[in-house]
Amino acid sequence: MNTILNIEKISLSYHTKQGEIQALNSISFDVLDGEFIAIIGPSGCGKTSILSIIAGLIKPSGGKVFLFGNQISRPTESIGYMLQKDQLFPWRTIEKNALLPLELKGLSRDGEKRKNVEHLLKKYGLWEFRKSYPNQLSGGMRQRAALIRTLASSPKLLLLDEPFSALDYQTRLSVCDDVYDIIKREKKTAILVTHDISEAIALADRIIVLTKRPSKILNIHYIDTDKSVSPLKRRESKDFSSWFERLWRELNYEKA
Ligand SMILES: Nc1ncnc2c1ncn2[C@@H]1O[C@H](COP(=O)(O)OP(=O)(O)OP(=O)(O)O)[C@@H](O)[C@H]1O
Ligand SMILES: [Mg+2]
Repeated sequence: MNTILNIEKISLSYHTKQGEIQALNSISFDVLDGEFIAIIGPSGCGKTSILSIIAGLIKPSGGKVFLFGNQISRPTESIGYMLQKDQLFPWRTIEKNALLPLELKGLSRDGEKRKNVEHLLKKYGLWEFRKSYPNQLSGGMRQRAALIRTLASSPKLLLLDEPFSALDYQTRLSVCDDVYDIIKREKKTAILVTHDISEAIALADRIIVLTKRPSKILNIHYIDTDKSVSPLKRRESKDFSSWFERLWRELNYEKA
């Protein structure tokens, strides 16, 4: 498989009134085409910062990021970013929310791109609700709508920052399956940031574990669970619990 993303020794410091906060300390990893990567680490260690650098929204203090061999210095259409506090706009219908990225990029008249959004709404069960407002939909449906919005400009790489954290446990499990299914069917590469160890194990091909701030990579694990079954099913396998214990220990050691 081809490498599509190279992250080379990125570091980041925030300058605040209280002084300098070093968030990232020489983070390097590569991502293969079609891979599902999860990033876990202690609260406040710099997970969101990594995604924001990959998205081209903030500049690292050191190091470089390459997508398809080209250095990233500003946001690109090839990357879709679902923010940690990703909210649909309550005053816009589901369809208008989903079309927003196209509007922002001046592409709302692009017939093919609009068709793609319509197609996604139909395929993933939101077409009948396209004229509804976000508060008329369940949490799971809103999450699907937010993902479709992220897919609107046909990005190759998806950055997902705690996409399921606002959902209750039951919904979370099924939305997790749904979202995974959409990402795989649309043949996207994904980087997911999560606090939830079991979510990371259920979804990822590889898990990157970060240390506490200023974060470095503590470990990168290949998750050898059965990828032919759904994430929900993977939770039942015995590999799952041994991975959970191992990562739990790793993270708690980091927090201590
Ligand atoms: N704009 C900013 N200005 C100053 N400091 C910031 C800024 N954004 C983040 N930080 C600090 O940098 C560190 C890393 O933040 P970041 O949001 O990347 O962590 P995180 O791992 O995503 O946290 P969480 O688990 O809470 O989502 C934190 O200590 C945070 O307070
Ligand atoms: Mg965060």
